[in-house]
Amino acid sequence: MYETHVGSPRSRVDGKLKVTGAARYAAEYTAPDLAQGYVVNSAIAKGRITSIDISAAMAVPGVIQVFTHQNRPRTAWRSKAYQDEVAPPGTPFRPLYDEKILYSGQPIALVVAEDFEIARYAASLVRVTYEAEGHQTDLEKVRMQAYKPPKTRSGMAPAPDRGDAEAGFGASPVRVSADYRIAIEHHNPMEPHAATVVWDGDGKITVYDKIQGVQNTQSYITHVFGLSQDDVHVLSPFVGGAFGSGLRPQYQLFLAVMAALELKRSVRVTLTRDQMFTFTYRPDGLQEMSIGANPDGMLQAIRHDVVSNTSTFEDYQEMIVGWSSMMYHCENVSTTYKLAQIDTYTPGDMRAPGAPTGMFALESAMDELSYKLGMDPLQLRLRNYAEIDEATGKPFSSKELRAAYQLGAERFGWSKRSPEPRSMKEGRELVGWGMASGMWEAQMQKTSARAVLTIDGKLEVGTATADIGTGTYTILTQIAADALGLPMEKVTAKVGDSKLPFSPVEGGSWAAASAGTAVTLACNTVRETLFGYARGMEGSPLANAEIGRVAFRDGRIELVSDPTRFVTIQDAMVAGKVHRIEAEETGSPSRINQARYSGFTHSAIFAEVRVDEELGRVRVTRVVDAVAAGKILNPKTARSQILGGVVFGIGMALHEESMMDHHLGRFMNHNIAEYHIPANADVEGIEVIFVEEHEDKLNPIGVKGLGEIGIVGTAAAIANAVYHATGKRIRHLPITVDRLL
Ligand code: MOS
Repeated sequence: MYETHVGSPRSRVDGKLKVTGAARYAAEYTAPDLAQGYVVNSAIAKGRITSIDISAAMAVPGVIQVFTHQNRPRTAWRSKAYQDEVAPPGTPFRPLYDEKILYSGQPIALVVAEDFEIARYAASLVRVTYEAEGHQTDLEKVRMQAYKPPKTRSGMAPAPDRGDAEAGFGASPVRVSADYRIAIEHHNPMEPHAATVVWDGDGKITVYDKIQGVQNTQSYITHVFGLSQDDVHVLSPFVGGAFGSGLRPQYQLFLAVMAALELKRSVRVTLTRDQMFTFTYRPDGLQEMSIGANPDGMLQAIRHDVVSNTSTFEDYQEMIVGWSSMMYHCENVSTTYKLAQIDTYTPGDMRAPGAPTGMFALESAMDELSYKLGMDPLQLRLRNYAEIDEATGKPFSSKELRAAYQLGAERFGWSKRSPEPRSMKEGRELVGWGMASGMWEAQMQKTSARAVLTIDGKLEVGTATADIGTGTYTILTQIAADALGLPMEKVTAKVGDSKLPFSPVEGGSWAAASAGTAVTLACNTVRETLFGYARGMEGSPLANAEIGRVAFRDGRIELVSDPTRFVTIQDAMVAGKVHRIEAEETGSPSRINQARYSGFTHSAIFAEVRVDEELGRVRVTRVVDAVAAGKILNPKTARSQILGGVVFGIGMALHEESMMDHHLGRFMNHNIAEYHIPANADVEGIEVIFVEEHEDKLNPIGVKGLGEIGIVGTAAAIANAVYHATGKRIRHLPITVDRLL
């Protein structure tokens, strides 16, 4: 296939819609009779509601209904709690189910009114009394009750131990043993959660939800409310950032659908920024890491033990310790991963769930070891380079991490690093250079796509995945344009509509590989049909040609060996007596290759910090992230993904921290003034390098996915740079002034 668009930097096809405000988000859809909902949240962390008085709220002119557990419609919760596509083992939370309070901030009432301000005001008049029970929100206090999850979340089982880590560590002449921890982080994409439910009459609804998977939302609604698929149309054409927050249907969706079905009118429920702190978040992790090595730097043992928190009703799990089994060559490895329950909502996936957490511990410990050995941190990594996936014994489908280390180091100027901590200073600032490795799964999921070519030379491709800002529309357009030899302007990509062919949720960095493959297959079928018409045309210049010997270019099908022999798309379709050619295909990962190979993306991150010791101020002045992620479909949008991931990593290293008031059992951050994220001034130079990596095992298009790798290892590289600058090892993120001084 000729590739003119794939592999080239292309601006987002949806960019103009977004910057002009024409792209609409879930809370921006409207309907003639749209009512507005406002959620009342629990003020206690555990116990039960003893009374809930809605009379004052109901008396406010413009209030339509106040829903509580006492009057919620019977239509809700037809079945037992429904586990959506990405739900962890357990019993999913059911809003307004009964009087029990499971966490602070739990939704306990929905006020529906003619407008938002009325609903908000009336919500303040809902009077609730509670009977509180003692809650526990302190992970350290329940650490001893940690358990191995009885049911493993799919794909989250830690690798079996190998060798004898205990003995290996004991016999190691050089050792590091320390505790690491990250703060809980709350999701704060630009677009807070919202659902607009349009009542179409006759029990049918159209739902605009802020979600990463329209079909996951659709089946949630059909199961919870006992509706048929035909009754529920879910759309999410634009998503204002998600990062995992939109993988599972959240409570605003349930409440909006419930109210719309009961009131038989359209209802919108939006969450405020404050309410964004009442649900899914990246969990805390108490990590114990021990590594031992010989004086030459060869690792002799790795031991990684983690206790992470979950809720009291679900066993949320993520891969925190798995990286320690795979990242380096080491014969003796032991990991444990346990959960302890606290009285909060269930944690959830947040960009590369588990990986930046675990890699913060592993890559910090490796850095500590390098100083004990008196060895360059990069040399230490190269010395212990894993040639195969040692957790499974399988070869990697491809792994150009060595090239990433080398190119990243060159670009950064790593060889000029002076090894001693506190040895680099400029003006009043200490300068520190640190590095780390990153690793993330390269996955593909079974996905279907449709391609429709019409005689006017236009091509439409569609699949029910989502574009959460990652550039999915753009890469699918590039792939389809190349497949049929069309300019990108002639191609329309559609995603985020439950009526489109099947797709799992967009997540795990698998959308490019999965949707990209499905679109490729559907377009290939269209190509074959088209080629058949072209060849069968009377007096066809391609009469004896085979599909492998023609190119689809500039709206023509031409012979590669002699491009003057061609048939236009239009002529071929006329010859075939058709106005449109439609194909739907499904792509699945190769089972054989999945069994044979391990597929991962890798990265090498180099960071420079400047620390003003008098003020305790840390600036991340330079980051070089060299990424090996297979084929890069679009270097421009790909780079943006890595930039965003690195910024997220800066946030993890220096800013983001959800603070729990254990007395109240409540997160105390309520907005982005109190929950710090990197602002423009916190982000200086970031350079992204894509390392050449040939990938042909994981999917037919050779991509590995890029949405998550940018955050993995970044916080560790920054913390390592802070140590190099200051001689202070901060093992508890974020590195705030109080921890540094
Ligand atoms: Mo990602 S955390 O799988 O949206």
